Amino acid sequence: MIDLHSHILPEIDDGAQSLNEAVRLCALGRINHIKKIVATPHFNAIGDIDNFLKQRDDRLSVLRRETEKNNINTKLYAGAEVFVDDDIFYSNNLKRLTINNSKYLLVEFSFYGLKIKHVSDYLNEIFSMGVVPIVAHPERYEFFQNDYDAVNEFASRGVLFQLNAGSLASRDGREEFELAYEMAYKGIASFIATDAHSLAHRPNDIAEMLRQFPQDINPELMNKMLVINPQIVLSDDDMPRIRYRRIEKRRFY
Ligand SMILES: [Fe+2]
Repeated sequence: MIDLHSHILPEIDDGAQSLNEAVRLCALGRINHIKKIVATPHFNAIGDIDNFLKQRDDRLSVLRRETEKNNINTKLYAGAEVFVDDDIFYSNNLKRLTINNSKYLLVEFSFYGLKIKHVSDYLNEIFSMGVVPIVAHPERYEFFQNDYDAVNEFASRGVLFQLNAGSLASRDGREEFELAYEMAYKGIASFIATDAHSLAHRPNDIAEMLRQFPQDINPELMNKMLVINPQIVLSDDDMPRIRYRRIEKRRFY
C-alpha cells in the first residue's frame, strides 16, 4: 500500500515528536504493508515556503537514513498538507508544495465557519494555478456532512478526495464514518490514507483498520484507493476520469 497522507516527519508539526517516534511509525507502517509513505507536514498557504521546504527536506533525509539503518524497507516521499483559506488568493507558490513534485496538491480547510461557496472558490483558484487539488479527509468537515451534493458537484469538476482510514474503521465519529463509507462505496473517493500523527493518536496500523472497514466495498475500488491511484500521483500521471455513483445520505440505524 501507499500512504499519501502522513505526519511522519519529526518535530515539524503536530505529528511525530521525535526521530525515534518517526522511525517507529515507519516500522508500524511497514508491518502493515505500507511500502511507500508521503510525508505531508501541515503548511499554511502563505507561510514561509523556503524555510518550510528546507526543514521538511532536511528531516526527510535524516529519516531516510535512519530507516535504512534500521532495515525498514519503506520509500519516503515529500509532500505537504496545505491549509487553504483566503490567503490562497495571494499565494503563487503552491506548485512547490505538491506531492513528489507532481501536479497533485493535498489540501485541508478550516473545520469552523466555512461555507461551501468559499471552498468552491478556493478549489477553483487551485485549478487555475494548474494544480489538481486532493481534498484531505472530506468526511471530517461539517459542510460536507451537511451537504453530500457538494461532494458530487466538486467531483464532477475533477476535485479528488482522500478518506482517512480511521474514519472507515469507525475510529472517528458516526458522521465521519457515514460520509466516508458512502464515498468509498460509490467510488467517488480516489484515495484512502492514514493521516498518521503518532503511535498514540491516529497511528498507521492500516492492515488492522482494514479489518474494521465495512466489508462490502468493491475490492477493485479498494485496490484503486490504496495502491493504484496513489501510484498515479507519485508518478505524476493523469488520473483516469473516475466513474462513480452520486452519493446520498443513508441511514444505518
Ligand atoms: Fe493531516
